[in-house]
Amino acid sequence: MLETRDLTIRFGGHVAVDHVSCAFAPGTLTAIVGPNGAGKTTYFNLISGQLPASEGQVLLNGEDITRLPAPLRTHRGLGRAFQLTQLFPNLTVQENVRLAVQARESGRRGGLDLFSVWLDRKTWIAEARQILQSVRLDDKRDAHAAALPHGDQRKLEVALLMALDPKVFMFDEPTAGMSVDEVPVILDLIRELKSRKDRLILLVEHKMDVVRELSDRIVVLHNGALVADGEPAAVIASPVVQQAYLGGAAAEVGPGAELGGTSPRPLPAGQGGSQHD
Ligand SMILES: Nc1ncnc2c1ncn2[C@@H]1O[C@H](COP(=O)(O)OP(=O)(O)OP(=O)(O)O)[C@@H](O)[C@H]1O
Ligand SMILES: [Mg+2]
Repeated sequence: MLETRDLTIRFGGHVAVDHVSCAFAPGTLTAIVGPNGAGKTTYFNLISGQLPASEGQVLLNGEDITRLPAPLRTHRGLGRAFQLTQLFPNLTVQENVRLAVQARESGRRGGLDLFSVWLDRKTWIAEARQILQSVRLDDKRDAHAAALPHGDQRKLEVALLMALDPKVFMFDEPTAGMSVDEVPVILDLIRELKSRKDRLILLVEHKMDVVRELSDRIVVLHNGALVADGEPAAVIASPVVQQAYLGGAAAEVGPGAELGGTSPRPLPAGQGGSQHD
């Protein structure tokens, strides 16, 4: 169970995440949506420890991890997709994934010893190959990570997350920059993850048809504040979402619609979006 309580961050006078209280249970996929600049990525950064909270708490399985450095949160089971700058760009694709598998196993054993490195190397390579096949990157396994085209780099980020096998998966627009034929590969993987009932998945996604299909729950952020939270159909149909994102109560969310893909109109007074100057 992951929970944020009054989680807040200010950048100067700007409140980017504004007292967000929300609990997420294992076995569910929650989509986090909202317009550009709503605070979705910043909320992830606060949960994973990339940014320090100004106020509030992050709890993982009852433990207050608000002040815990990011690597220790990873040890506790929080998984955030790596950015390419965090990879080893001069190693091959396969070596990157193999190192992630190895890091996971060493962490579980509570240390690295040379004998088991020697003993388990083949197993790790085999698992890395399997993961690369699942993201359709196997044919690029010997390429340097830095030399991959953008879409493949995104796939590699997902592959690394799979290799680490965390309890909490955080995907921030995992298919952004991918070609149309690559997108289903990643969505299939997320679907497969969902079928493992103990995994908790948070997904920031602008594509409404993806959100509608994959999510068990939708949380809407607006100006850093949580303005809607609930079962997908109800949230999509709610006046706050219809008016703020879709231009009126009569608007239909058709295939390809992007929730938060366009600038929202200001929220009507009394509907939750706290305004900051
Ligand atoms: N390190 C930072 N310093 C100052 N302001 C920041 C920082 N990080 C984020 N912000 C601001 O916080 C707000 C929320 O940004 P964030 O990137 O979380 O939005 P988002 O919902 O992920 O948007 P998008 O859909 O475009 O990815 C923005 O106004 C952004 O400019
Ligand atoms: Mg973002």
